[in-house]
Amino acid sequence: MSKIAIIYVSRHHGNTERLLSEAAAGMDIELIPLSILGERDLCVYEAVGLASGIYGFELDQGLTGFALGGAALPKKLFVIYTSGMGRDSFGTSFIKKLEASGHEVLGHYQCKGFDTFGPFKLIGGLAKGHPDQADIEGCRSFLCGILSQAKTGTKEKRINNVIFDVDGTLWDSSEIVASSWTRAIRENTDLDISYTAQFLKDRAFGRTMEEIGRVLLPNCTDEERKQLAKLCFEYEDRDILVEKAYIYEGVYESLKVLRELGYELFIVSNCQKGYVEVCMDQCGITGLIKDHLCYGDTLAEKDVTIRQLMDKNSIDASEAIYVGDTAGDQNASKKAGIPFIHAAYGFGKAEAPEYVISDIRELPGLLEEINGGKR
Ligand SMILES: Cc1cc2nc3c(=O)[nH]c(=O)nc-3n(C[C@H](O)[C@H](O)[C@H](O)COP(=O)(O)O)c2cc1C
Repeated sequence: MSKIAIIYVSRHHGNTERLLSEAAAGMDIELIPLSILGERDLCVYEAVGLASGIYGFELDQGLTGFALGGAALPKKLFVIYTSGMGRDSFGTSFIKKLEASGHEVLGHYQCKGFDTFGPFKLIGGLAKGHPDQADIEGCRSFLCGILSQAKTGTKEKRINNVIFDVDGTLWDSSEIVASSWTRAIRENTDLDISYTAQFLKDRAFGRTMEEIGRVLLPNCTDEERKQLAKLCFEYEDRDILVEKAYIYEGVYESLKVLRELGYELFIVSNCQKGYVEVCMDQCGITGLIKDHLCYGDTLAEKDVTIRQLMDKNSIDASEAIYVGDTAGDQNASKKAGIPFIHAAYGFGKAEAPEYVISDIRELPGLLEEINGGKR
């Protein structure tokens, strides 16, 4: 007998059903359409998931009515939904009602789903191609976390591990980087290029090294880009050691408070090797950071680097959160299956983020709020 079952309704395009069946493939999870549930005893499961599309701003009414109408369900539940707009808040009221009726909601996962309802049909539909591979992988990570909570029988809902991005989150080194890269190109090539800090913030930071190369040197071959990027980083590595980057006010104090509150702190960045160490040193937070990993270590996309750091430190997805300033960071968190806090004071924007801080000093309070005072 599986430890987990998911009861679902998927009546528009089968988006929710496809998300569940692909994300849970090979896992010990039973997927049961509500329409064939019958008299089955659901209390034999450690946890039950409730999943559907969003129809008129809420989950399927048959499903919510079933869950809130006195059905015999185990204490531990979780919620999954797909919608045309991908809005996290669509499930909030249902989740609150489940909790108010005495259930423990282990977590929720939501993503976009192809939507041709009403006027959207006329424009070929909304959220075409969703759920896509990233949505499915994110859901799979979420289900892994749920399975491990069901296995241990413990509630591991407190988010104890905070993973930080570097540029635009802890500090702003764009002035130094812009001048280093400009010098590297001018002193070693005939190219008449100069970069500004604003250009780097808008077009380069938050992206992988390959993407940065294409933005900075659009007319060069891959090989030339590789050589020049290497030079740029050598110049930058030297300059960053002697010039001081701008550190956002309150970084040290906030991280210290987080440590005192019992949070473990980590850094995952898309940068080259050695850069995180310099940042930690200049911010005075070396002793506060438990571990860090960057693109230079893994040569992988940020979501993979996040997962590697989590695996290395035995961190469950239900216990971690990522703090970053760009849509790339948001996407990486989603793919890694962990929630995201948008540092809105940084360089980039995020798409309807679940949590936002406009100053890093807001972070301890926000995390305590998310954790609801749980120890
Ligand atoms: C009747 C109806 C109402 C919908 N209402 C919303 C809505 O309020 N907000 C939204 O973002 N998507 C809405 N959608 C889009 C669906 O939530 C989305 O396509 C979802 O992935 C459908 O899941 P399914 O294919 O598993 O049924 C609606 C779709 C239908 C058919």
